[in-house]
Amino acid sequence: MQAKFTLALIYGSAREGRFCDTVVDWLLTHLPNMLAADILIVDPADLIAESRIVRAEAENRIARNLARADAFLIVTPEYNHGYTAALKELIDSFYRPWWGKPIAFVSYGGISGGLRAIEQLRQVFAELGAATIRETVSFTHAVERFDENGNLRDPGRTLRQLERLAKQLSWWAVTLKAGRETVVLEEIA
Ligand SMILES: Cc1cc2nc3c(=O)[nH]c(=O)nc-3n(C[C@H](O)[C@H](O)[C@H](O)COP(=O)(O)O)c2cc1C
Repeated sequence: MQAKFTLALIYGSAREGRFCDTVVDWLLTHLPNMLAADILIVDPADLIAESRIVRAEAENRIARNLARADAFLIVTPEYNHGYTAALKELIDSFYRPWWGKPIAFVSYGGISGGLRAIEQLRQVFAELGAATIRETVSFTHAVERFDENGNLRDPGRTLRQLERLAKQLSWWAVTLKAGRETVVLEEIA
């Protein structure tokens, strides 16, 4: 039996009408069968608030979810060869919860499928003491890959790739969770 862990699934776009919802919804139909994890949702759109009180509440909620998570899966688009300002704001708003935890990426976009956004995020998370995992899932020309009901056309290869990602992420999540329980992170970070 696989050891259980907590996964935070993070939206990489906060735009109204974002395609990110389609990708996240598709992931949420498949991931629960692929890993033994409780899945929490973290959405940078929650930080776009009309009042400081609402924003503070959103920050507290996100902070709790990030702290609880043993692993992260970031679903990122690519804009002008980079990731979004909303995602950067989310990352920069919370320093500690990334440390000693694995991060996987699912990306989407036009011709590059978001791969350049992933490579930039790897650099950022190196500074935050996180371990980004090798396996990724990437959707080139993403809008054309999904039908009007949000189903992926021709999903075979992508599902196999997602399974590999889920296995790697699970291994890192469980291994680093044990590590954090064995050695107090504050002693080394
Ligand atoms: C201004 C702009 C720049 C874009 N730049 C890229 C890019 O550099 N590489 C890419 O693969 N897709 C690019 N795209 C396509 C987006 O990644 C795609 O529209 C994606 O669905 C945006 O995610 P969202 O709808 O969840 O916000 C760009 C789209 C726009 C509007």
